[in-house]
Amino acid sequence: MIFKSIRFKIILWYMLILTITLSLFSWVLYYNFRHSLHENLNDLLMSKAEGIADSIDTYWEAEKLEAIKGGVTTNVFSKINNINFAKIAQQWVEEKSTDPKLINIAVWVYDANGEPIASSKDIPNFKVLSRGMFGDVLRGHSRFDNFDIEIITGKPTTFRVFTAPIIEDKKVSYIVQVASPLTILYAELTKLRGILFLVLPITIFFTGIAGALLAKMTLNPINSMIRTTRQIRADNLNLRITIPDTKDEIKRLADTFNEMLEELDRAFTFQRQFIQNVSHELKTPLTILKGEIEVTLKKIRSANEYEAVLRSSSEEIEKISQMVEELLLLAKFDSRQMILEMKEVDLSEFIQNIVENIRVLAEAKNLKITFFCQRQIIIAADENQMKRLFLNLLDNSIKYTPEGGKVMIDLQKKEEIVNVHIADTGIGIPKEELPFIFDRFYQVDKSRTGMGVGLGLSIAKSIVEAHRGTIQVESKLGQGTTFVVTLPLSVNSNLHLPQFVLQK
Ligand SMILES: Nc1ncnc2c1ncn2[C@@H]1O[C@H](COP(=O)(O)OP(=O)(O)OP(=O)(O)O)[C@@H](O)[C@H]1O
Ligand SMILES: [Mg+2]
Repeated sequence: MIFKSIRFKIILWYMLILTITLSLFSWVLYYNFRHSLHENLNDLLMSKAEGIADSIDTYWEAEKLEAIKGGVTTNVFSKINNINFAKIAQQWVEEKSTDPKLINIAVWVYDANGEPIASSKDIPNFKVLSRGMFGDVLRGHSRFDNFDIEIITGKPTTFRVFTAPIIEDKKVSYIVQVASPLTILYAELTKLRGILFLVLPITIFFTGIAGALLAKMTLNPINSMIRTTRQIRADNLNLRITIPDTKDEIKRLADTFNEMLEELDRAFTFQRQFIQNVSHELKTPLTILKGEIEVTLKKIRSANEYEAVLRSSSEEIEKISQMVEELLLLAKFDSRQMILEMKEVDLSEFIQNIVENIRVLAEAKNLKITFFCQRQIIIAADENQMKRLFLNLLDNSIKYTPEGGKVMIDLQKKEEIVNVHIADTGIGIPKEELPFIFDRFYQVDKSRTGMGVGLGLSIAKSIVEAHRGTIQVESKLGQGTTFVVTLPLSVNSNLHLPQFVLQK
């Protein structure tokens, strides 16, 4: 389980990347250090060889002056294979090899034939000049070599050797060779390797621990989210995740999760309420039905009595089936399974026809109903649903307007939309009730509404929204109510809804 956790993965990656970068860094550091140690040693050997040659030459010049004073002619002063020069070189080496400047430096001097003429005291009479080296030197090239010398028998020490020809008059007059043991350099490198091998795992170990703590700190809120989420069930959707006091992604995740819970909570409550309402609304007519039938069955009745009971039962059943039909319609809108048969409709003519149909109803209640529209307004709509929408709204206006009142319908076309106003001079709706009137089964005051169940406006809203429109209400208690249905004119705006079938 732990190996699959994000925390473990973060630490693993962290340590892996760190190991790779640190190893690379150490490698570069080590090789650069090694290279510069070698370079330094080479430079040192070169400068020593130069100094030695200069110094021997100064000795020789002094010797020459002495000899000239003694009357010796100049042509015997060639350094090449000159026994006197060999003596001078030997003398120089003997005197100078203990010089502190030459500590750890071994010196050899060879004549132009490659024969040793002088060497430092502590170096055995050992010829470090190989054939290859001598060949190069004769051609005027100086060179560096690594050479194993056995100062203590059986224990060879590797020396860095610099061999340089001393050229005078374009000829090699003698050869100077200097060497330094590589042991110090190797010791330095071994020390550095040791440090790196020690520091590397320690650094990785401690940064690993730091990484683990950091990952724990970062992921702590997520773990607490997991704990809370585990407790959430359908019956305690009111639980919320503690929002961390940050502004990062984890806070956003917690916020989003809480918003989702809020939404779910609302949906569940709504669903529960809805089921309660449906049961309640169904229960009343069913109880009436049951009661009437039971009372009737208690004794033998006349045919007229049976007919009366059957008629009233049929009315109750009609109410139930109408409600079930409306609920089914709402369920279809909710699940977006409602197929709208879109046609081009002249809304003006369409609403006028509905108004004419219900005029009788209005007049029966002594209501004045007026319709106003100046021109043809073509929209794309499902005729059946449009009819249901305006019938529901007009039914309300007539139902909630007392005798002698007025119902006014007018249509206004504005650029891309049409506004349908349905206004009445009825009883109005209290301001605080307005936000709820489109809710299912919501009725402002059961006693004043009579027959309905409170589904009319929620169906109207679903129909308007399926046509990409909006519905709004304004009302003043005791003065009247106005509903404004806004619908788009363009057919294309409906094309965004793939779930609805368009028919021309
Ligand atoms: N024009 C109106 N004037 C005053 N109140 C209204 C008007 N239209 C709706 N209402 C109020 O809004 C409530 C909800 O209306 P809705 O049409 O959804 O339900 P209903 O008319 O009571 O029942 P149903 O329409 O299902 O027969 C109504 O009960 C009523 O109180
Ligand atoms: Mg209604």
